[in-house]
Amino acid sequence: MSLRITSYEEYQDKYAQSVNSPEEFWSEIAETFTWKQPWTKTLDWNFSEPKIKWFEGGKLNITENLLDRHLATRGDQVAFYWEANDIDGEGKSITYSELHAEVCKLSNAMRELGLAKGDRVCIYMPMILESVVAILACARIGAIHSIVFAGFSSNALADRINDAQAKLVITSDGLNRGNKQVDIKSMVDESLLSCPSIEHSIVVDCIHSNPEMKSDRDLWYHDIMEGQSTTCEAEIMDAEDMLFILYTSGSTGKPKGVVHTCGGYMVYTSYSFQNVFQYEEGDVFWCTADIGWITGHSYIVYGPLLAGATSVIFEGIPTYPNPGRFWQICEKYKVNQFYTAPTAIRSLMGCGLDVVNCYDLSSLKVIGSVGEPINQEAWHWYHDNIGKKNCPVVDTWWQTETGGIMLSGLGNLSPMHPTHAGYPLPGIQPVLLDAEGNEIIENNQEGYLCIKFPWPSILRTTYGDHDRCKNVYFSNYDNYYFTGDGAKRDENGMYRIIGRVDDVINVSGHRFGTAEIEDAINTNQYAIESAVVGYPHDIKGQGIYAYVVIDSNKIEDSATIISSLIESVSTGIGKIAKPDKIQLVTGLPKTRSGKIMRRILRKIAEGEKSNFGDTSTLLDPSLVEDIVEKSI
Ligand code: WT7
Repeated sequence: MSLRITSYEEYQDKYAQSVNSPEEFWSEIAETFTWKQPWTKTLDWNFSEPKIKWFEGGKLNITENLLDRHLATRGDQVAFYWEANDIDGEGKSITYSELHAEVCKLSNAMRELGLAKGDRVCIYMPMILESVVAILACARIGAIHSIVFAGFSSNALADRINDAQAKLVITSDGLNRGNKQVDIKSMVDESLLSCPSIEHSIVVDCIHSNPEMKSDRDLWYHDIMEGQSTTCEAEIMDAEDMLFILYTSGSTGKPKGVVHTCGGYMVYTSYSFQNVFQYEEGDVFWCTADIGWITGHSYIVYGPLLAGATSVIFEGIPTYPNPGRFWQICEKYKVNQFYTAPTAIRSLMGCGLDVVNCYDLSSLKVIGSVGEPINQEAWHWYHDNIGKKNCPVVDTWWQTETGGIMLSGLGNLSPMHPTHAGYPLPGIQPVLLDAEGNEIIENNQEGYLCIKFPWPSILRTTYGDHDRCKNVYFSNYDNYYFTGDGAKRDENGMYRIIGRVDDVINVSGHRFGTAEIEDAINTNQYAIESAVVGYPHDIKGQGIYAYVVIDSNKIEDSATIISSLIESVSTGIGKIAKPDKIQLVTGLPKTRSGKIMRRILRKIAEGEKSNFGDTSTLLDPSLVEDIVEKSI
């Protein structure tokens, strides 16, 4: 059954209903799915513990809703078109019934290995169809997947495996990325030296690199799939059983495992997918994210499959073999809804229109943006040259923790205002709070973006550390979910996201904690301490600026030190977190009580030379002058 709203008036009605009687509203939507047993309580919640339970007592398996449920009506419909990294590479497609069979086979193989409900499985894989199979096989047998983006280093992977105490890792021998091949199997091998919980690794033969296989541990995917039955009984899950863990960065400490559960996540990703993108039967949808991020989870895998959609999955990168690759793929598959990140748009904008205009983009109906604020220039370029002024731009604001899109236009139904994410989806009750925690009622004011009522796909906990969940999201303001973003509501009630108000930075749509990067830098032999801040970057949105205090006993030329520091970040987190600028300093500006004055460092990184506001608490003001003088 379609959950799609088809007019703006209907949106307004549904929105009002979702606020006035949320339980009835979500029950009606949830009833359209296949449940093995109905729920007894629609919602039980408080934001103080926090405790949030949707559809309690309900029993289901999400894979029956995204595969089995569709077999009778769309078994032969393509679920995914897979486009290879190489433009002349052989693509593949997989139908709903083929995907069902593959998922069942892997589920059976995983059960044979002793995997069962509640076990954690780490997935570290390229953008290939086997990754979708792996995700869904976990869900089929009730194992909890934890996908780690394959750009993270072996140290970062090991941290995540150990935090979740995963028993199995699913990976590949390597991956194709533009004109490079990356040997991810050896990264996994290195991680597993310090991951005692892992019993096996399953390896997909992706680039045929003939890697070394550890005989008692490593298994080829194609070997364990052989001879498996194409049917597999799905595990019966409670609505509130964990579906997956996804690690994301915060202001402090190591990344935390955001937990999503089966029932609520299913209902919300399906509902938001159909409405934001206005997906209609027969359309082809393409989300360019990696499955390692929440966007890939919700809008490559779960949302589209739950809706019975046909989507594109692309193995490669937007600029290989040339910057027309995205548009060539849109033409090839006649993509109707296209969803990407501002950073991709900004990097392609600079490549001229010849590589855009040579492709037929007339199939496009809706074009989306996600991950970071989209600036005016990028918005207009996207709207004019990709959407040909004919397609609404849906600027979708949401987070790993929200599970699905929270603020956005609904296809062409909603009014649109460049750089404004727009209105809340039905069921979402955003508010802006001032520093004292009072709700800002008037429009045209900035405040802290918070949400005052639960929606089905809100995070339930942070894995293994419920207090952390409470402290990070539910303690800044009593009885509100705190997003970490600042926002402004305009005179029409539309929201515009300003950016993070905490020590989280957003680099090319990837989220990092400044503390996490500092920790990686501080492991370096030359570093004594460091401070990392974000600064505006034309393509990436934010760049990473690191101020590093160097051990004066270690004499070395600065180029050597800087490349060694970069290496430490690549090893600790991954190349994606490499600082854009590193300034070696003799000290950091601190208050008399020893706190680093990041505000000043942020201003210097932005190019400010003076006007640092109140500096009366600075211990050593001359340090600031020195840093300004040598700033990059
Ligand atoms: C943070 C969440 C949501 C999936 C990808 C990122 C920023 C996200 C927008 C947008 C302005 C945005 C926020 C948010 N963000 N979408 N449309 N406009 N900012 O997920 O890694 O959990 O990061 O990304 O700052 O808090 P994430």
